Amino acid sequence: MTNLFDLSGKVAVITGASSGLGADAALAYAQAGADVALLARRVEKLENVKSEIEKTGRKAIAVGCDVSDENKVKAAIGQVVDAFGHIDILLNNAGIAVGGGVDSMSVEDWDKSFDTNVKGIFLVSKYVVPHMKAQSYGKIVNIASINAVIADKGDMFIRHSYNASKSAVLGLTKGMAASYARYGITVNAVGPGLFESEMTSGTLFKSDEFLKLYNNTNPAGRPGKRGELNGTILYFSSDASSYVQGQFVIVDGGSAIV
Ligand SMILES: NC(=O)c1ccc[n+]([C@@H]2O[C@H](COP(=O)([O-])OP(=O)(O)OC[C@H]3O[C@@H](n4cnc5c(N)ncnc54)[C@H](OP(=O)(O)O)[C@@H]3O)[C@@H](O)[C@H]2O)c1
Repeated sequence: MTNLFDLSGKVAVITGASSGLGADAALAYAQAGADVALLARRVEKLENVKSEIEKTGRKAIAVGCDVSDENKVKAAIGQVVDAFGHIDILLNNAGIAVGGGVDSMSVEDWDKSFDTNVKGIFLVSKYVVPHMKAQSYGKIVNIASINAVIADKGDMFIRHSYNASKSAVLGLTKGMAASYARYGITVNAVGPGLFESEMTSGTLFKSDEFLKLYNNTNPAGRPGKRGELNGTILYFSSDASSYVQGQFVIVDGGSAIV
């Protein structure tokens, strides 16, 4: 039987690959047979992930890139194409969670959220989509969040710019999916629930009160474990999802069940 999840011969670009969910996904892509281009600002951390990838026998390159800076994105994607010749998969994963509500946060913090979480996806896609169109094949996966559709309640973690920017990711995903389907490109989104990473270890995972509330109200009774996002990412990145367009799958143990 054909393995619909096989990524042999494919090249995947992963933004935010220097830590957390992006680094985990990069390894999963390599284990599924893809060569990978690792993008983030901290190149020394990317080099560590690259070493892990190379142990699988796949090729990896580490490319320093701030996804909110058009010139850096253009140069980074150029570097990937020079190295591998083509791009088949794009995981738009880079993201930040800035705290604050509309009555307390600065305009600078608001803009920072949107520059990374939304403009970053726009810019990287802007330079990748033409390559996918030219080869009539591409898989784009945008990492949104459960917080695109569900707000954390109470005063513990108020992150209005995060909620808004992650909702914007869903709108962008739908628009891109509708436009690029005819070019053989699928665009879908994944919404992680709570996973431990650099983003969450110093905040959500530090609060016993928040963790207790999460575990008590989450049907699985626990946060996600490292690697538990990869199956959904691989599904949207492989031919297993060849006719799936503009969809959003939440991976959260059931917190978002309504
Ligand atoms: N962990 C969770 O519970 C959770 C839940 C829902 C959604 N998510 C989403 O999952 C994604 C990954 O987050 P994570 O939890 O794995 O957190 P993380 O460990 O903090 O990873 C974030 C990644 O984004 C990169 N990044 C941030 N700003 C960037 C920029 N301007 N340009 C390029 N790269 C940038 C960081 O690398 P550098 O600092 O090296 O640039 C890092 O690799 C994010 O989009 C996040 O919103 C996470």
